[in-house]
Amino acid sequence: MTTDGAAQGAPVPDHPATAPAAGEPVLEVRDLEVHFPLRSGALFGRSRGVVHAVDGVSFTLADRETLGIVGESGCGKSTLIRTLARLTDATGGEIRFRGEDITHAGRRRLGPVRRELQMVFQDPQASLNPRKRVGQILATPLRLRGVGRDAVAGETRELLARVGMNPEHVNRFPHEFSGGQRQRIGIARALALQPQVLMLDEPVSALDVSIQAQVINLLDDLQQEFGLAYVFVAHDLSVVRHVSDRIAVMYLGKLMEVSPASELYSRPIHPYTDALLSAIPIPDPRRNRARTRTVATGEPPNPIDPPKGCRFHTRCPLATDECATTAPPLRDFGGGHLAACHHPMNLSAAAAAPSSPSAASR
Ligand SMILES: Nc1ncnc2c1ncn2[C@@H]1O[C@H](COP(=O)(O)OP(=O)(O)O)[C@@H](O)[C@H]1O
Ligand code: SF4
Ligand SMILES: [Mg+2]
Repeated sequence: MTTDGAAQGAPVPDHPATAPAAGEPVLEVRDLEVHFPLRSGALFGRSRGVVHAVDGVSFTLADRETLGIVGESGCGKSTLIRTLARLTDATGGEIRFRGEDITHAGRRRLGPVRRELQMVFQDPQASLNPRKRVGQILATPLRLRGVGRDAVAGETRELLARVGMNPEHVNRFPHEFSGGQRQRIGIARALALQPQVLMLDEPVSALDVSIQAQVINLLDDLQQEFGLAYVFVAHDLSVVRHVSDRIAVMYLGKLMEVSPASELYSRPIHPYTDALLSAIPIPDPRRNRARTRTVATGEPPNPIDPPKGCRFHTRCPLATDECATTAPPLRDFGGGHLAACHHPMNLSAAAAAPSSPSAASR
């Protein structure tokens, strides 16, 4: 792998993570910031600093698109998608849903907006009420959607069948199901509201590998059938590979690289992405041998006091003095492949040349 010494991609002036090629945008996220103040006392305590959980994230999600979001634990993935689902408040920036600014939607608007942007959580055990039967769990969102009393039972059974479960099991409790089945119930609960977007927070991380594929296939089928868009969070690059149209790599609250999925694996531009790729096995041993590995040393720094300059500079083997002082902007290296790095890797001659203004402003 080569580095060429200086970032030469065209800076993207307005909207750093460019729009995907096809489809109307469902979500437009611009400079999103979620900071959590840390206080020493329980009430009105002195501020002990701020956790920079999400720090200037921009991207666009197209209709029917799956955007994978990958990064180590604590980098802000859950906070990001909880904020998009309007379960956590943004402290800065903007979220647009179908063109409408929903960043600070008030109480009356919040209910309908949340119905469109549903979450599926990592741990189905923890996210399902253990004292409720599956029929009751699904009836609540159905009633919220306005399904009449007479129709709820039938729709509950239909939903269960649609996620590959036995409709006869409506009277069972969550503990009577396997982990994979519980996650199917979590997905059915989200679908009950007929959302346009699912925010999937590591939806298969807690499941056995053999079950993971089944749940991913189900999500794929549901996306086709209902025309859903997905934001699919994972902590490593192996899971999102086959489900994502594009992938965004996150580090300490910022996006480091955004790319069409296949290109991210064959030609990572950012050293952090390369380090994440080095951590997963490649099926082809010839490619494995040929590959130069970037190894990120140590643990991620504390998001209360993130490093100046490039946030990755304390762990990056390519870091220079410039990296420690100047934060690199996300730049467009062509074809919707963006990276924030002063010393990008794997640039072809064509990609190293600055992109045309039209490509950069897309
Ligand atoms: N409600 C909160 N109050 C304070 N800090 C929080 C809160 N939620 C998350 N954080 C912090 O924000 C950072 C990002 O967390 P999170 O979004 O859960 O990361 P990830 O999902 O990538 O593991 C972490 O340092 C975490 O401790
Ligand atoms: S420290 Fe940051 S900007 Fe510098 S080479 Fe590494 S990733 Fe790129
Ligand atoms: Mg998380």
